[in-house]
Amino acid sequence: MKSLVWSLFFTLAVAPAVFAAKFPQNAWTDASKQTIPGNAVPNKFIVEVADVSDIPGKRELGAPDSHKRLYHALRKRDVGFKVDKEFNHQGIFVGASVTLDNANDRKQITQIPGVKAVRPVILVPAPNPVNIHVVSGVDDPALPPDSESTHVLTGVDKLHAQGILGQGVKIGILDTGIDFTHPVLGGGIGPGFKIIGGFDFVGDDFTGANTPVPDPSPLDQCNGHGTHVAGIIGANPDNPFNISGVAFHASLTSYRIFGCTGSTTDDIIVEALLRGVSEGQDILTMSLGGSDGWTESTASVVSSRISDTGKIVTIAAGNDGSKGAFYTSSPGNAISSISVASLDNTVIELQNATVHGVVHDPITYFATFPFPVNDTLPIFVTSTDPAVVDDACDPLPDSTPDLSGFITIVRRGTCTFVQKLTNVAAKNGTVSLIYDNGSGFSAIDVGNFTSTLIQADDGVFLVNAFASGETVSLSFPQSGAAFGFPDLSGGLISSFSSFGPTNDMFFKPAVAAPGGNILSTLPVPLGSFGIESGTSMATPFIAGVSALLFGVKGHSPSVGTTARTLFETTAQKISSSHTDGDPLQSVSVQGGGLVDAFTAITTDIVVTPGEFLLNDTAHFKPLQTFTVKNNGKTAKSFKLSHSPAGTALSLQSGTSFPADGPVPLSTKFATVKFSETSFTVHPGQTQKLTAHFTAPSGADASILPIFSGFIDIDSTDGLDSFHVSYVGLAASLKDAQVVDNSDVFFGVNLPALGASDGSFISGPANFTFVGSDFPTLVMRLDFGTPKLRFDLVDPNIKIKTTLNQRSEQTHVLEKSVFTFPNAAQAGTFSQVKILGPLFEFDFLPRNSDVNDGSGFNSFGLTNTFANGTTISNGSFRFLLRALKVTGDPTKEEDFESWLSDVVGVQAPSP
Ligand SMILES: *[C@@H]1O[C@H](CO)[C@@H](O)[C@H](O)[C@H]1NC(C)=O
Ligand SMILES: *[C@@H]1O[C@H](CO)[C@@H](O)[C@H](O)[C@H]1NC(C)=O
Ligand SMILES: *[C@@H]1O[C@H](CO)[C@@H](O)[C@H](O)[C@H]1NC(C)=O
Ligand SMILES: *[C@@H]1O[C@H](CO)[C@@H](O)[C@H](O)[C@H]1NC(C)=O
Ligand SMILES: *[C@@H]1O[C@H](CO)[C@@H](O)[C@H](O)[C@H]1NC(C)=O
Ligand SMILES: *[C@@H]1O[C@H](CO)[C@@H](O)[C@H](O)[C@H]1NC(C)=O
Ligand SMILES: *[C@@H]1O[C@H](CO)[C@@H](O)[C@H](O)[C@H]1NC(C)=O
Ligand SMILES: *[C@@H]1O[C@H](CO)[C@@H](O)[C@H](O)[C@H]1NC(C)=O
Repeated sequence: MKSLVWSLFFTLAVAPAVFAAKFPQNAWTDASKQTIPGNAVPNKFIVEVADVSDIPGKRELGAPDSHKRLYHALRKRDVGFKVDKEFNHQGIFVGASVTLDNANDRKQITQIPGVKAVRPVILVPAPNPVNIHVVSGVDDPALPPDSESTHVLTGVDKLHAQGILGQGVKIGILDTGIDFTHPVLGGGIGPGFKIIGGFDFVGDDFTGANTPVPDPSPLDQCNGHGTHVAGIIGANPDNPFNISGVAFHASLTSYRIFGCTGSTTDDIIVEALLRGVSEGQDILTMSLGGSDGWTESTASVVSSRISDTGKIVTIAAGNDGSKGAFYTSSPGNAISSISVASLDNTVIELQNATVHGVVHDPITYFATFPFPVNDTLPIFVTSTDPAVVDDACDPLPDSTPDLSGFITIVRRGTCTFVQKLTNVAAKNGTVSLIYDNGSGFSAIDVGNFTSTLIQADDGVFLVNAFASGETVSLSFPQSGAAFGFPDLSGGLISSFSSFGPTNDMFFKPAVAAPGGNILSTLPVPLGSFGIESGTSMATPFIAGVSALLFGVKGHSPSVGTTARTLFETTAQKISSSHTDGDPLQSVSVQGGGLVDAFTAITTDIVVTPGEFLLNDTAHFKPLQTFTVKNNGKTAKSFKLSHSPAGTALSLQSGTSFPADGPVPLSTKFATVKFSETSFTVHPGQTQKLTAHFTAPSGADASILPIFSGFIDIDSTDGLDSFHVSYVGLAASLKDAQVVDNSDVFFGVNLPALGASDGSFISGPANFTFVGSDFPTLVMRLDFGTPKLRFDLVDPNIKIKTTLNQRSEQTHVLEKSVFTFPNAAQAGTFSQVKILGPLFEFDFLPRNSDVNDGSGFNSFGLTNTFANGTTISNGSFRFLLRALKVTGDPTKEEDFESWLSDVVGVQAPSP
């Protein structure tokens, strides 16, 4: 039976609560879990060059444009390359993506005059919805009655009531394509339709690892994500589900950059963004990204520049909330763009099952649409003990009846839901309910089984009734049992929404929008309508609000460049919980708060800026200025006050590991003094103000406390309230440990060298570098690093490393305890004698504590230098160095370092 409920991302709900469960010791040999650091694609780079007009003496080479000059210069230096794409948008991005024969020519390319940057091409994962639920079709019997609650929460309903619908505004959607045949999306593509155009940059079969096959039609009938996104912006209201897009009179263009499955690469994102700019989109929206922490990826840089020209670019903050702070996604980290967080809806539409045989209230089950079960079926419980911890984790006993005619009741805990359901299915059980063990009532990952969660009390009741011999049956009404369940986390930031700020203290995310349990369109062959959750759903909401803004204020660049500030200053502050006295949620996960579209678009008061970036203690910016402008017709009086938000304790105490989300909050707040606390602004006038911040005292700097909050600007008539959000770190970023040197994850101290049989190497070892006889560097980053270097050095190098000096090394260190010639002198980094570089990466994200491909980095080593030259046979060591955040790359003492044991290179002679 095809299940109606499944999810792609809620495996989180079954993760054991224990932090830092060790990975399998040979986890790094599992190719599917191996990651090239930062998701870089081997040998592919995006080279940015200066506009031709910027290049002095540009005629000398006789090359008419920047691209030809670049290729000429590459050939002159004997760099083997193939051009994959050319980018030519003067003022935003000029350059090319190239595949190099030898990745290590990258260094040379950076030295070519006129080359501004060489960045790796990054693999960007497919948009990852938190859960998906497909409606069977427009005749689905039970529809959620309040599909517009998201509009009510944000004031979009009031704008719609005034006929503000985004007419005349153009939005480009970079996603999996759109099913433009969908009647609710206009049923076609081209001039005169809602979807006015588009392009498919990749083709159905593109996975991110193969060659894209572009075609003119962005039709998507195989994935569906982009169709869901498009409906959130543009669904026409005349549909049986009564949903409508935020800006359903806007014109949409579909840039398809994902195939049916898999990832895309950021050179394709850049190409699509630049096409969107040339095609005159007012807004570009991207419900995609990969966890990063830095602002420097090419797609981030290009998005930011496009935002600077006055277009609005909205980008998902990411669904990595469980992985802790400093982990927002790129390109969402684009400095000038709008990174969007997700808020849980206040009411979730769930279904009730009817209880027969005993008197009991209907049982609410976590499904938006009724289970496809017509019969009233008796229950069977896999354990009569309602406190059993590992119910149905093992195959069910032989005494178990054929379960095909039963609703099986199982308790949550220990193993995955799918494992329990597989055991039930082995006894022919097809419909099951899993009762909660206190972990919370939410969507769960049940694979393709017909199953979902019920609450603990209901489960205990059913088990006890069954145990006492009652005949209890359940039925699943196919209509009329939808029920507005008050979501306990409703109105709060979704647990999956990623935490910022960026590694260098930029304010991400910017603003939140509803992203949980959103009903929207799906491709017709995939069911036409469905529910999804994720920052992917919140992002098009802000794109829609942006269209309403442009629709009202006109399309001028000044409207675009000030949009983020407007949304941030008018947003609604979000609490960290529904418990009285708990602090406001950290700005590092809510941004300025939940967007208030009505206030943003109708207010006459303009507060600038929207963000105070206080930075860390070493670069603290305590004095901040802001202005309040009155564009209205009457004088307004305001008072200033401070609403601190919870201080996010980003590391686990006593470790260098990030605290998992929800990041714990403390009430050690910053304090603020204002230049004045009340003032009046007359029509047309601007009041200038200052705020002087003091970082929280008594916060434990070793756990990197992120303090944040809001400067409230409330009108004394009680009608208007605005705020400027601030974020700072009560610690110095340079003190944050970057490289994991513990044995927590693999049972051996990291970094470490592994052999291809999955064991770690201790002590000296020789390698032939033939077949699988090579070492692999296994390492983890606890914090992002701006620069990671791996060099080959003399086995007797005189250096004092900072990480994990093993006893075998002591003799080396003793006879030559390292001192830099003059540690205070600049350029100490270059004084460390190396035999040659093996690799170097810039702006690497940190790792997570989950073994899902983000948990560690591994690099298989070859007997070649970075430039491809073979390393001659002999004895060496490897030297790993990672620059600390805000560190100076010329100073050795700003790096963490690790020296390997002696490695013998013993390649057979050719
Ligand atoms: C949709 O709206 C119509 C008209 O207001 C109403 O009769 C109908 O019950 C609504 N349908 C749902 C599913 O809410
Ligand atoms: C659903 O069940 C809950 C809990 O028993 C009950 O409060 C609610 O009234 C029911 N709603 C419907 C529509 O059956
Ligand atoms: C339930 O009944 C409906 C209407 O008779 C039918 O279309 C559907 O196939 C039945 N579903 C199952 C799972 O038997
Ligand atoms: C499951 O159903 C099949 C086919 O009806 C039957 O042969 C088998 O015995 C059943 N399995 C169990 C465990 O009852
Ligand atoms: C459910 O998933 C399992 C494992 O992925 C697969 O073997 C099985 O065929 C699927 N069943 C259905 C009905 O889709
Ligand atoms: C914080 O300070 C560092 C060091 O000067 C700088 O690189 C970074 O850009 C600053 N962050 C912000 C948000 O200004
Ligand atoms: C590596 O090879 C060298 C040269 O043959 C030898 O002296 C040394 O003992 C070898 N080391 C190990 C760990 O096998
Ligand atoms: C490659 O790098 C090594 C180590 O830095 C150096 O000795 C060698 O000369 C370089 N080869 C070329 C062709 O540049």
